[in-house]
Amino acid sequence: MDPTTLVIFGASGDLTRRKLIPALYELHRKSRLPERFRLLGAARSPGSDDEFRRQAHRGLMEFVPQTYETDSWNSFAGQLHYLDGDFTTPEGVERLGARLAELAAGADGAGSSERSRGGGAASRVRDAGEARRNVLFYLATPPQAYLGLVEGMGKAGLVDDHDGWRRVVIEKPFGSDLETAHQLNAALHRHLREDQIYRIDHYLGKETVQNVLFFRFGNSIFEPIWNRNYIDHIQITVAESVGVEHRGRFYDSVGVLRDVFQNHLLQLLAMVAMEPPASFDPEALRDERQKVLQAVRPIPLAEAAQHTVHGQYDGYRREEGVDPKSQTATFGILRLHIDNWRWQGVPFFLRSGKRLAAKTTQVTIQFKSVPHLMFPLPPGEAIRPNALFLCLQPDEGIHLRFEVKVPDSLRRFRSVDMEFHYAEDFGPTAIPEAYERLLLDALNGDASLYMRADGIELGWSLVDPIRRAWESGTPDLQAYPAGSWGPPMATAFLSTDGRSWAMGCGGTDE
Ligand code: BG6
Repeated sequence: MDPTTLVIFGASGDLTRRKLIPALYELHRKSRLPERFRLLGAARSPGSDDEFRRQAHRGLMEFVPQTYETDSWNSFAGQLHYLDGDFTTPEGVERLGARLAELAAGADGAGSSERSRGGGAASRVRDAGEARRNVLFYLATPPQAYLGLVEGMGKAGLVDDHDGWRRVVIEKPFGSDLETAHQLNAALHRHLREDQIYRIDHYLGKETVQNVLFFRFGNSIFEPIWNRNYIDHIQITVAESVGVEHRGRFYDSVGVLRDVFQNHLLQLLAMVAMEPPASFDPEALRDERQKVLQAVRPIPLAEAAQHTVHGQYDGYRREEGVDPKSQTATFGILRLHIDNWRWQGVPFFLRSGKRLAAKTTQVTIQFKSVPHLMFPLPPGEAIRPNALFLCLQPDEGIHLRFEVKVPDSLRRFRSVDMEFHYAEDFGPTAIPEAYERLLLDALNGDASLYMRADGIELGWSLVDPIRRAWESGTPDLQAYPAGSWGPPMATAFLSTDGRSWAMGCGGTDE
């Protein structure tokens, strides 16, 4: 087995500590990492292998103490290494190349005594250069560093894959609008082929998001009614109860549209609305997601007031790092239409916000009312149309709401829920972190849950006109109280359509 090294740029950052190291530790514990695996943390902050291991240990104890096992940790820790430097400079890249060769040759550790004898490291690097080795570079740095890192590595030949594969994972945000995303793609393509680039949207790595496809295309009873003939509309909500936390400065420059809509919400939309590909092939899956986004009707500036709402929570402007006069939206709703045969006339309501009443990500498939009601209902009573709720997080599961006759009544109805909860059927810890799956897929060369260049750019082309409309005050930015479901307009927005928000995953119907 060729040795594999994962290099994390930005190794001293939050993402590495909170998500990447815990995910890698879990993969190690489950024996899923490749044989002869090494993790090289790379960052500007000075540090050593031992310090990096201690920092990783602290992160594990803080974020996944429940899975910590001393033996697993000890064997994992032995695979962790650290290199400090500025890897956008030729000197930094050279040191990185030398360290990679050392690690691949298994020369690390023993190397220190040889180094002291003089000249050993350089000759080992030359020897190791002959051998095959694989490297996954993970860019977990601030986005301003992406280009410099890829250019540096490209010029030094570190991403040439003649002697084993080389892949690069890129964190979001990928650009800040269509133009910058396009420039970034073009710059990456100067040094990397598209099949070497893995653009992350961590929502696609969530177990429950992957299950949307398994649920739709692994059952025969849902797909026949998954269309305009039976579905009235679809709601997709990504609600958070937290505010901007320690990311005020960054968040204020992006807002909810760039932070969540351009990526997570559009990808959820694509999973819910896509056609079944003929096979589970990564490109076929990405093609089908792409076709959905291509069919989304753009919202022009003149229609932004009709099809969107945006808001900002009270107190946002006092958050650290936020401009006291900020007009950045922390809440948004879009009404989108997909112009194809399956979805003509079915609105999709996408909603997200910070400091809302609950943390919940859910999809509501709201079916149409029965075509004819043969039951004479008591005056003032109506029956509710059926709804299917895909509960993506927390309390992951699927609920189906239907009507039953109230026992011992003559003709009264009540809505009841048929519920599936992952925790009940698979155990409370069955759902892995999204990053586990994504890291494993990148190591295995499977890009189906990653974004392609055209997908990213299409996402930006859909949100850019809306952002421009919002920036020009169309519609007005609405204030909303922290802990609410957004500005009053949010409810009015659906009720003017004769519809209402339906939260069937433990949240409350508004
Ligand atoms: C990130 C956003 O991409 O997704 C954050 O930058 C947001 O602002 C987060 O909080 C939500 O992810 P999750 O997995 O907690 O739903």
